[in-house]
Formats: sequence, structure tokens, C-alpha cells
Amino acid sequence: MKEESMTELERLQAAEARVLVPTYDRNPVCFERGEGVHLIDEHGARYLDLLSGIGVNALGYGHPAIEEAIREQSRKLIHISNLYFHRGQAALAERLVKLTGLDRVFFANTGTEAWEGALKFARAHAGRLRDEGKTIGTKFLAVEQSFHGRTFGSVATTHKKKYREPFEPVMPGVEFVRFNDVADLRAKFSSEICAVLVESVQGEGGIRPLSAEFAQAARSLTETTGALLVVDEIQAGVGRTGKWFGYQHLGIRPDVTTLAKPLAGGIPLGAVVCTEEVAKSIHPGMHGTTFGGGPLACAVALAVLDTMERERLLEHATEVGEYFRQQLRQLQLRHREIVDVRGLGLMVAAELHSAELARQVVKRMLARRILLNCTSETVLRFLPPLVIDRTHVDEAIAALDAVLTEETAQEGDRHGK
Ligand SMILES: Cc1ncc(COP(=O)(O)O)c(C=O)c1O
Repeated sequence: MKEESMTELERLQAAEARVLVPTYDRNPVCFERGEGVHLIDEHGARYLDLLSGIGVNALGYGHPAIEEAIREQSRKLIHISNLYFHRGQAALAERLVKLTGLDRVFFANTGTEAWEGALKFARAHAGRLRDEGKTIGTKFLAVEQSFHGRTFGSVATTHKKKYREPFEPVMPGVEFVRFNDVADLRAKFSSEICAVLVESVQGEGGIRPLSAEFAQAARSLTETTGALLVVDEIQAGVGRTGKWFGYQHLGIRPDVTTLAKPLAGGIPLGAVVCTEEVAKSIHPGMHGTTFGGGPLACAVALAVLDTMERERLLEHATEVGEYFRQQLRQLQLRHREIVDVRGLGLMVAAELHSAELARQVVKRMLARRILLNCTSETVLRFLPPLVIDRTHVDEAIAALDAVLTEETAQEGDRHGK
């Protein structure tokens, strides 16, 4: 096709196809700006965003608190490196310590980088225990269907082979326990293990909440050897489940937790939060980053946390999330192709009976200008901004109802009914 006769989107698609490494299979839409819970494309069409940049834009788009923090801080200082002090890190770390119930913070930039930090801290901690004469190994126990990111330690502890196999050999010494299977956890745990690794609610694995029984068994087992319990809160944390962190639903205090996605409202920021005991194993020079915990990211994160408190977004996430699941369960009565509805707070899932149907539903919802995605093949995943309200849920449910009706009719036609 000639350049002149192409739409702007077609030109973009062609340009990206020429010059980007093909890591993404993007949806055919180009966004220009956002307002509240809506994204607006290059033609001015509005889309209801029920994915919020995969759990990042918790305050939606154009929130004045974020805009103001960026404006204020960017006038003063964006980056200085970790060679010097600025005011943001201590202030934000104090908030995170209070909210997590843990003691110390290391700032990174992304989820996977926070997770790598947590793995290194666990190895360093086990090394210190060995120096003190304890028997503890270097292996990790992770959970089936887990997802912890794309760097080498992260893919090694991520369950699905497709993330690991093309890049092997990855970090050795990782074993996987069946999800929520306490007997399997007990069978695989030993003094060889330096850390048990869990997500409080598995995100990419299909929005599956960890059971309190499993979390508490992991807590008790690790306490017998000095191994760490590490909880990945990168997707579930910072308010999304209706508590600050997903593990707060489970009656445990982890040794280490990792945060990222919504922490700085779309400015990249990750964090490892750990106990005093874990932090004792780390000394200056053992770990670090150029960008992590920069002045801009910290200022925006403080504004995000303030706003979540001021606007009571955790209570709101609980209330609207419950409503969302209720409405999906009503829909399930009419559409038997929905085989399960689950989640916690505004981490919401509707599992369908087939991967093909799930793919088609996401496409058709996009055509109706509603954004969601499909994870773990058959699971429709909703991670809306925490500021959505019931009317947005109603809009999504009505569209899903229509889309499932159309799809069932088409399936019927395909089978000659
Ligand atoms: C639970 C969990 N851990 C880690 C990651 C990796 O985060 P990032 O993509 O910021 O590296 C993700 C991303 O989806 C995640 O959901």
C-alpha cells in the first residue's frame, strides 16, 4: 500500500514492523490521551479502560495529584543518582514501612528488577546464615502458574516454560509447588531452600488468590529453617485488592515483598521491602541501580499514596470489585461459557470455557471500545483504575453480555445449528 493512502495507524504499524524488535502483538489502536477511566484514540474516540496499563494507572488518567507532583518535582530535580541524598526516598520508604509492616526499603525501577533484588537478598541472607553455622541451601521454591517478570532470575522462577525455554540455561535451583497444595509444599520444602516465592494473587496466572492455609504453611515451614517467605505484590499490591497488600488478607507477615506497577502512577518505580533481619545481610556496594528511587518517581509515589488515602480508594476497590463479581456471576447464569468468576478487590477475572472464545471476546470488546485482556489463555482479566464506579461496571457487563450472545450465535452457525 502507498504511504499517502495509509491511515495514521497503518503508517505506525508499518514503521514499527520495520524498526522494532517484534516482542509485542499490539491491538490495532493508537491512543493519544486519557481522561479519568477513559483512553482517547487519535480520532477522538473514547475507550473505557478496564486494564489501566496492566494494573499501573490506579488513579486513572490525568489525575490532578499526579500532574501536580510531576510539575512541581520536575521543575526542581528529576535525577541525581544514588550517590547523593534527596528528600524523596526516606519519606517514601517511611510510608512503605508503615503500610507493609516491614522495616526497610530498596528502590528499583520495574517489577522484574524488584524481583531480582528480592532473589539476591534471599541468597545473601542464606549466605549469612551459613556463615553463622546454620544449615540452609541456595534453592528456591516457587509456585506453578507463577509470573515474576522477564529477566533471568525472574523467568527462572516463572512457571510457564514459554518464558524460559528460548533463553536457557536460566538460573538453576528452582522447583515448583502445585498452586495452593499444602501437601506438595511440605513434601518439597527442605533445608536446601533459601526462599519460598509466592504471589498473594497470581496475576498473569489467571487472577488466582493464594489460600491463607498455603500462605500460613509457607510461613511456618520457612520459620523452621530461616528461609525467607517472599511475596510478589507487583500486580496485587498498593491497594488493588482492597488492602494495601494482598498478603494482608492472608494472616502472614512476609520477610520480603516486591512492589512496582501502580506505585508511582505510571512513572517507573519498583521497591523491595524487607525485614531488618534480611537487610542485615546487605552492605553498601552489594546491590544498586542508577535510576531507582529518583526524585521524580518518589515524589509522584508519595502523591499516589496520599491520594489513595484521601479518596479512600481501598474501600472503594473492595466495594466496586465485589459489585463487579456479583454482576459477572449474574451474567454467568445466562452464559454458561463463563466457567468461573473470581478475584479480590479490583483484580477481577471471568474464566471462559475456551481460549479461542476468550480471544474473540477481547477483540469484540475492543471494537465496542472497552479494554481488557486475556491471560492464562482462557481468563478475561479486569484490572481497572481504582477510581471506576458502578456505572462503568454496568457498561462493561452490558457489552460483555452482547458480545457473548453474538459469539454464541456465531459458534452455533459454525456448527450448522
Ligand atoms: C506478579 C508480577 N511480578 C512481576 C512482574 C514484572 O513486572 P515488570 O513488567 O514491571 O518487570 C509482573 C508483571 O506483570 C507481575 O504481574
